[in-house]
Amino acid sequence: MHTLDRFRLDDKVAIVTGGCGAIGQVFARALAEAGAAVVVTGTNGDTAEGVADALVKDGLRAIGVQVDITDRESTEAMAARAVDAFGGIDILVNNAALMSEIPRIDLLDLPSEWFDKVMRVNVLGAVHCSAAVKASMAGRGGGRIINVVSAGAFQPGGIYGASKLALVSVTATLAQRLGPQGINVNAIAPGLVDNEPGMKSLPADHPVRAAFVSAIPGKKQAPADDLVGALLLLSSPAGSWINGQTISVDGGFVMRL
Ligand SMILES: NC(=O)c1ccc[n+]([C@@H]2O[C@H](COP(=O)([O-])OP(=O)(O)OC[C@H]3O[C@@H](n4cnc5c(N)ncnc54)[C@H](O)[C@@H]3O)[C@@H](O)[C@H]2O)c1
Repeated sequence: MHTLDRFRLDDKVAIVTGGCGAIGQVFARALAEAGAAVVVTGTNGDTAEGVADALVKDGLRAIGVQVDITDRESTEAMAARAVDAFGGIDILVNNAALMSEIPRIDLLDLPSEWFDKVMRVNVLGAVHCSAAVKASMAGRGGGRIINVVSAGAFQPGGIYGASKLALVSVTATLAQRLGPQGINVNAIAPGLVDNEPGMKSLPADHPVRAAFVSAIPGKKQAPADDLVGALLLLSSPAGSWINGQTISVDGGFVMRL
């Protein structure tokens, strides 16, 4: 196989949760441009169809599907739509999450409703989606699940960080559980992404952002496009031997030895 062909996704079918969000739209387009048929999912069906239509207008293959990832039946319906439309599922990107919506309240004072809500979306949601796609992936000889976590998982990051660290743990569990069926499960941990939700969560003038930025040895912050290399590696034949890993894409913000 030609080296660059190892990154191609022709004949693959990918689902991107949170596909209407800032990073999700970039991921959906990247997967489609690499050759995959993409199921763009969002909490609003019309918005998801709009994002998918923009890809179709550019000659790419995509549909938009409404989903609430906290609802197991809704994720099963999402998987069924993907199978109906494109014949099966090869790649799932668990990208949907609550982040900028989380009130900036000290963890010790956070109302328990928010604790439950964040864990339901950021952790249980990814588990629901993984459960919903596994039969189709296994039936096609394997697949890839990519969980989007965060550099916030590896430092005091409140309920958001706790949920993302839980998803790192879920990544390892799913990798062990699904590896024998040919399904690789990995995670991408972005650093300071230069987009609206990132800036809302940690505003440009916030002292914590300044402290983080000064401690990052490499590129301090970057657009979502800078996550695409890791996404394609983990989604494509090029990443076939990578399983159970969390790859930081953050300029060296987090370093694990
Ligand atoms: N932006 C950053 O700086 C940054 C940094 C590190 C990690 N991340 C992670 O990247 C991912 C994407 O973030 P983003 O910046 O695009 O934020 P975003 O808010 O634009 O995207 C999140 C998406 O998740 C969807 N979502 C929320 N609850 C849902 C539910 N119950 N069912 C289905 N979808 C639901 C939202 O509709 C939204 O489109 C998230 O997992 C986030 O934690 C972002």
